[in-house]
Amino acid sequence: MLDPQTRRAAPVLEARDVSKVFGGTVALDHVDLSLYAGEIHALMGENGAGKSTVTRILCGVHRPDTGVLLIDGEPVELHSPAAAQERDIAILHQEPSLFGDLDVAENVFVGRQPKHGRPPRIDRRRMRAEAARLLGELGVELDPGARVADLSLAEAQMVEMASALSRDARVLIVDEPTAALTPGEVADLFRVLRGLRDRGVAVLFIGHRLEEILALADRVTVLRDGRFVDSQPVGFYDEASIIRAMVGRAVEGAYVRERGELGEVLLAVRGLARAGVFSDVDLEVRAGEIVGLAGLVGAGRTEVARTIFGIDKRSAGSVEIAGERDVATPQKAMRAGLGFVPEDRQHEGVAVELPISANVALPILGRVSSRGWLRPGRERRLAREWGERLRLKARDVSQAPRELSGGNQQKVVLAKWLATDPRVLILDEPTRGVDVGAKVEIHRLVDELARRGMAILLISSDLPEVLALSDRLLVMREGRVTAQLGHAEATPERVMQAAAAEVEAVVA
Ligand SMILES: Nc1ncnc2c1ncn2[C@@H]1O[C@H](COP(=O)(O)OP(=O)(O)OP(=O)(O)O)[C@@H](O)[C@H]1O
Ligand SMILES: [Mg+2]
Repeated sequence: MLDPQTRRAAPVLEARDVSKVFGGTVALDHVDLSLYAGEIHALMGENGAGKSTVTRILCGVHRPDTGVLLIDGEPVELHSPAAAQERDIAILHQEPSLFGDLDVAENVFVGRQPKHGRPPRIDRRRMRAEAARLLGELGVELDPGARVADLSLAEAQMVEMASALSRDARVLIVDEPTAALTPGEVADLFRVLRGLRDRGVAVLFIGHRLEEILALADRVTVLRDGRFVDSQPVGFYDEASIIRAMVGRAVEGAYVRERGELGEVLLAVRGLARAGVFSDVDLEVRAGEIVGLAGLVGAGRTEVARTIFGIDKRSAGSVEIAGERDVATPQKAMRAGLGFVPEDRQHEGVAVELPISANVALPILGRVSSRGWLRPGRERRLAREWGERLRLKARDVSQAPRELSGGNQQKVVLAKWLATDPRVLILDEPTRGVDVGAKVEIHRLVDELARRGMAILLISSDLPEVLALSDRLLVMREGRVTAQLGHAEATPERVMQAAAAEVEAVVA
């Protein structure tokens, strides 16, 4: 059906005047969004702007308080995710939501497994072959029989993507799919998304990396504080104007760190290994120093961090923290002054059901309680203080992180470890899913912590981020350190060369 005014077909999916309030939080305030067949439409905004809430309404998880949804110009009510699926709306969630105990193929076809025989039984062979074909289309090598609990975050996302592909969706919603992917995987994903667009699918894409969005999207809609700001063809924007639209003001560019005096060695790792995962890792971080650990997703950086902290057992080597030798368990590591902000906030980072204040106080119970009693007042004060410094967007500190946007959950994890005032801090992807403004804020904070004498080991797949913050850079590939670069020698080309056997196409 053509729109008489625009002479264009009606949007495949449209949200008109949609509002959503949770408790006291206005998540969406009369928002409009139109998705057309054959376009990649980027939805942009700061953490907590309402992007994921829009997607949850479009895929039937939430009902809007005001406004309507229209499919092909006809009003519809999507009462449940199943109803949205029936209308060919598929979604790739911000955090993969898969069944860990099932295998890859079962997750791709969950609820729709091909059957054969009488009585009908699941046709495992066909299911696995189909899953393999879909994964092949995505350019992913993954065993359809592998247990999903054993997959990396990046691989789990690819399983969700295959599942969405298998549904032959007319609308595909992808909420921050690239945060944990290597440049090669991002290029693969974008190739697939462009292919779907060319077949007439309406793709709604959410992400925080501006250069990615500008390269991928055909149209951009910006939200700020739950309100619609603007919707334009992508050519209308450049990075600066998109940031202005999202934040409502200009944001300064990348943070530039001034390098100061270094103190004593606070973290010394020698010959560290975990059989079959990584080996021969030597590194030292001094007071006041930021050492970057660069590499592609899957290079073994997170495993090194987990082993230093003592969550994973080492098979060789030693870890010394602030003169404490032989630190081998998380308890000992924390007592010696080590803090660890993990990458996987959903599973290790936050207790999503506990109040923010309890989360922040968790690692430092000793200090907020006196004689074993918890002091809620101090707990809340501490959480408020860190919340303000990190510009955490929450109703108050009694709210549970489950109700926070993805980027704000990440800030709770940061607050929790910063509140322990550690001497050595390991940050694993500290700004993943964090918006541009808050990212500069976190960079400033990390720099300030270093200047106050903290020793920081920074793991990040965000190349500009590690390059800007690190005094020295170690690059890992396939479980080994392949380069050590001083700040002046660390160029993007050299890091990429050390990180990838063949330099992969970096998405411009
Ligand atoms: N179930 C819920 N209960 C209470 N508040 C919620 C709930 N879901 C979302 N909110 C609130 O609604 C607002 C918008 O959240 P949303 O997750 O849509 O943000 P977002 O734009 O996706 O942010 P991010 O970039 O961090 O992912 C936030 O203030 C959030 O705390
Ligand atoms: Mg979100």
